[in-house]
Amino acid sequence: MTPAVELRGVTRRYGDMAAVDGVSLAVAPGEFLTLLGPSGCGKTTLLRLIAGSEVLTAGSVWIDGRDVTALPAFRRPVNQVFQSYALFPHLTVEGNVAFGLHMQGVAPAEMARRVGEALELVSLGGLGARRPHELSGGQKQRVALARAVVCRPRVLLLDEPLSALDAKLRHAMQLELKRLQRQLGITFVFVTHDQEEALTMSDRIALVHRGRIEQVGTAHDVYHRPVTRFAADFVGQANLLDVELAGREGADVLVRGPGGLELRLPATAWPDGTKRATLLVRPEKIHVSRKTGIGPNTFPARVEEEIFQGAMDHLSLVTSGGLRLAVVVANESQLGDIFHAGDTVHCALHADDLVVLPAE
Ligand SMILES: Nc1ncnc2c1ncn2[C@@H]1O[C@H](COP(=O)(O)OP(=O)(O)OP(=O)(O)O)[C@@H](O)[C@H]1O
Ligand SMILES: [Mg+2]
Repeated sequence: MTPAVELRGVTRRYGDMAAVDGVSLAVAPGEFLTLLGPSGCGKTTLLRLIAGSEVLTAGSVWIDGRDVTALPAFRRPVNQVFQSYALFPHLTVEGNVAFGLHMQGVAPAEMARRVGEALELVSLGGLGARRPHELSGGQKQRVALARAVVCRPRVLLLDEPLSALDAKLRHAMQLELKRLQRQLGITFVFVTHDQEEALTMSDRIALVHRGRIEQVGTAHDVYHRPVTRFAADFVGQANLLDVELAGREGADVLVRGPGGLELRLPATAWPDGTKRATLLVRPEKIHVSRKTGIGPNTFPARVEEEIFQGAMDHLSLVTSGGLRLAVVVANESQLGDIFHAGDTVHCALHADDLVVLPAE
C-alpha cells in the first residue's frame, strides 16, 4: 500500500545542529501516528517539514506516493492544528470554519452545508455565531479541529493540540479526537510529549530522540518491547538495572546487578558475546508478598515509602544491598495485602518479564 506520508532520509540543520537527523518513516493511509519525545527533540520541526513550512536540508517528503519536497505549503494536501488554536478573533465560529473553503472558492450553499456538518462533528452545532473570546478552551480547540477537517485534507498534522486544556477536558478530547479520526478516515500525525496521551490515542508511536526516530511501533510494542534505554524510560515507569554477566548454568545465564542483586535469565534472552546490559523491570512486574520467596529471582526488600492512589499502590522498595525499586501493586480488594513504610516484603521476578537492553 502506498503510504499517506513518507519521509526519506529527512534532515533539517540549523547551523551545525541537526534538529531532525536522517529520519525515514512511513505513515499508512488512515493511520493515527504519534510523534512522541521530550521537549526540543525535533517533533515540531518534523511536522513543519511535512507541512512544507520548513525547508529540508536533505532527503525528501512524499504524500500519497507523490514527491512534494519542492511544493510550497499551500499546494500540499495537508492541514494543521496548533496548540494555540490560532483562530481569527474577529470572525465568528462559522467564519473561522468557512475560511479555508472560502479560499478554495466553494459556492455559498455548499459552504454552509459543509460548515454545518463540521460543527456537528465536533459537537458545536448552535455555537456558529459566537466569536472565539466567547468560547471555552475546549470549544476553541474544537473550532480549530472543525476548521482543519472541513477542507478534507488527506493528512492532518496536530502539534500538541490538547496541551492547553485541563486534565479532565484533555482526556475527554483525546477520546473524541480518536473517534473523529476513525469516522473521517483521515491520516493523523499527532505530536505530544505526554506518553499517556500517546498510549491512549495512537495506532503507532514514533519515539523521537535528539532528531532521530528511536523506535516505531504500537503502544504495546513500545511499552513491552522497548529497544533502547531511552525508549524504556520515556514510555511508562521503568526500573533500569545495569547488569553484568556472572556465569552460565544449563539453559540460563546468571547476571549480577546493582546492590549485589543476582538474577537468572534464559540464555536465549541474552545477546551472544555481551558482557554488560541494562535490564528493564516494569514496576507492575515485581510481585510483592509477605511470604518468603523461594526459587530464582526472589529477594527480600524493605518498604521505604507507600503512596496510595486508589486502584494502585505505589511502593518504593530498598533491597539489603541498597538497590531502590519502584513497584506498583493493584489494590484488588480491601482485604488484600496492604504494605506500609517499614515493612519487610519479598519480591519475585519472572524471567520472561525482564527486558534486556543494550548497555549505554
Ligand atoms: N528556527 C530555528 N532556528 C534554530 N534552531 C531551531 C529553530 N527551530 C527549532 N530549533 C531547534 O531545533 C530543535 C528541535 O526543535 P522543535 O521545535 O522541533 O522541538 P520539539 O520537539 O517540538 O520541542 P517541544 O516539545 O518543546 O515543542 C531545538 O533544539 C530547537 O531549539
Ligand atoms: Mg514543539
